[in-house]
Amino acid sequence: MTSSILVEGVRIAFADHGTGTPVVFLHGFPLNRRMWAPQVEALASFMRVIAIDLRGHGESDAPLWRYHVEQFADDVAAVLDHLSVARAVLVGLSMGGYVALSFVRRHAAHLKGLVLTDTRAQADTDAARAARFQMAQAALAKGPGAVADLMLPKLLAPTTLETNPSLVRQVRALIEGMSISGIAGDLMAMADRADSLSLLSSIRCPTLVLVGEQDQATPVADARLMADAIPEAQLVIIPNAGHLPNLEQPDRFNEILRRFVGSLS
Ligand code: MLT
Repeated sequence: MTSSILVEGVRIAFADHGTGTPVVFLHGFPLNRRMWAPQVEALASFMRVIAIDLRGHGESDAPLWRYHVEQFADDVAAVLDHLSVARAVLVGLSMGGYVALSFVRRHAAHLKGLVLTDTRAQADTDAARAARFQMAQAALAKGPGAVADLMLPKLLAPTTLETNPSLVRQVRALIEGMSISGIAGDLMAMADRADSLSLLSSIRCPTLVLVGEQDQATPVADARLMADAIPEAQLVIIPNAGHLPNLEQPDRFNEILRRFVGSLS
């Protein structure tokens, strides 16, 4: 069921399915909660699946400004508060992982577990910030299709691009559904985000670090860095997947997640 709340006048949409341990799914850039469709379908009979459209995405509002990773984390906390969920497992993919790390910094008491998938703890380099500005300019000049052209080779493994045209179309459609304000807002939020390396050793909840073996955007080395620094984190590398293993290898991804969440109850 899709619902929404208002956070200071900005509508935040989310879907809430199933019962059991609450697991909150946070999508990457420039996507929306529909990227979690295979997880909603397969996992809602084992756990409570809450998939949020971060502001600027999907059915949430896309205001012109007020995009910060901290604001995204506070929006997630507001949804949990609205649902009276005291503690949840957060699953954050890429930008969703940046939001999850900000949630650790701001709302750690509400965490039952953490899944950091295809993400990194380091802040942007100057070169990465410059590339984000160029991408925002391309979006403004040519529309979200230009962002899809730039992002698809980073999101999907070469084999997925070659052999799974329907998934390529699906991901392209998610990107093309973005507004320019949402794209620019995300890019500014990611460029401005804090470095989280020093936060990692303070994470006290059970943590799973996942990564697609062929992820080029946030490679295995970034995942290993986080898993080594977070006390007792597990690292799982998913073969034959790039930056979106939940879509490229959904059965494997779902099984790993189901076991992790099952181990927490
Ligand atoms: C994402 O998938 O959310 C982005 O690739 C993250 C980023 O650009 O840093």
